[in-house]
Amino acid sequence: MQRTQVAIIGAGPAGLLLGALLHKAGIANTILELHSGEQVLARVRAGILERGSVELLDEAGVGQRMHAQGLVHQGIQLSFGGQRQRIDLQGLTGQSVLVYGQNELCRDLMDARKAAGLTTHYEARHVSLHGLGEPRAVVRYQHLGQDHELACDYIAGCDGFHGVSRAGLPASAYHCYERGYPFGWLGVLADTAPPADELVYAQHERGFALCSMRSRTRVRCYIQCSLSDRLEAWSDARFWSELKSRLDPVTAAALEPAPSLEKSIAPLRSYVTEPLRFGRLFLAGDAGHLVPPTGAKGLNLAASDVRYLARALTEYYRDRSEAGLARYSEQALRRVWRAERFSWSLTQLLHNFPDHNGFDQRIQQADLDYLMSSRAAQTVLAENYVGLPLND
Ligand code: FAD
Ligand code: DHB
Repeated sequence: MQRTQVAIIGAGPAGLLLGALLHKAGIANTILELHSGEQVLARVRAGILERGSVELLDEAGVGQRMHAQGLVHQGIQLSFGGQRQRIDLQGLTGQSVLVYGQNELCRDLMDARKAAGLTTHYEARHVSLHGLGEPRAVVRYQHLGQDHELACDYIAGCDGFHGVSRAGLPASAYHCYERGYPFGWLGVLADTAPPADELVYAQHERGFALCSMRSRTRVRCYIQCSLSDRLEAWSDARFWSELKSRLDPVTAAALEPAPSLEKSIAPLRSYVTEPLRFGRLFLAGDAGHLVPPTGAKGLNLAASDVRYLARALTEYYRDRSEAGLARYSEQALRRVWRAERFSWSLTQLLHNFPDHNGFDQRIQQADLDYLMSSRAAQTVLAENYVGLPLND
């Protein structure tokens, strides 16, 4: 039987970052990942990092390329009623965000892990967790057709929303709080110049739209779509035309359509598991909670969970104190719920809800009107967007 101190399930941003932080603290860890490294890197997902996430990546020693290639953004643009207006993140909060793709971040973490000679088993199948209430936990899995067992002190379930860590628990072990939304996001990645220097979030009667970016020559754009929409029905030409129809004229005119490099549909969902600890198992990132992507919080929450967990495990191995581990679930959930609230409210503000009537629509307009006329309201949005403090 193999042995490690912490077994990490999943090599997404949560698992890789936790592995890097534990290694820095001298804690042995092994990662088991269902897919190949290339498949993990091929996923196009989040792109906005809060300062706390940037600092954590620096702490893990993987910040070099992120600082060289990431774009510092000091504001965001809101497009509605045919106009574009700016929220001055820097002026309102003293902070900015960094535009850097999730797959680039994973690549940096994977490269550092490989250079340090740390063990990651890609394409690990049939992972199952045992002994969560025993003095030692065991992870069973298959790799290259062989059965394996990995004994460990603790398990970090970083295997995303569809992973086995949460799914393997009895339903009576946890409570889940959930909200579905009657729409999804259709996303396109393309090599063309962003239509503005900053991200443009658009509210329109045809539905929400977002022009984000990965660099000065690559855009990541999204439009709200129906849950029944199929990718085949969305040619590039239809996507660009629909996106432009939802933007103010200045932004629409500045957007030059280009062939899509990637196109995908993601449903929107809010979901929280409570608690996040089950004996020797700790859930972190999407394995424990989901937010709708509107506030760009998913990846940043995964990072803050991992920060709390890495500190708690470090305290355990350094001082033999379980105080941090005992506090993990409550501490992480407090920040999770604040991000849930923000992501939910920004989703309400900017999307077209099919079941909304004229009253709901007028309230949405009044919300936007108030936001743009009140520095206090803009400060609320800005301080949530750049990231709330890490409550340690
Ligand atoms: P994940 O990134 O999901 O990583 C989990 C890892 O575990 C994966 O590599 C997976 O292969 C592995 N795994 C799964 N099952 C097993 C198993 N049985 N055994 C071993 N390994 C397993 N956030 C934003 O802020 N902005 C966005 O635009 C955005 N877009 C998104 C689009 C999609 C389609 C999705 C699903 C999420 C998106 N998110 C976005 C959310 C953000 O990407 C996530 O919050 C972030 O990836 C969370 O990281 P994680 O490491 O917790 O989970
Ligand atoms: C991106 C995604 C988001 O959900 C968001 O709010 C901002 C940017 C992105 O993929 O770049």
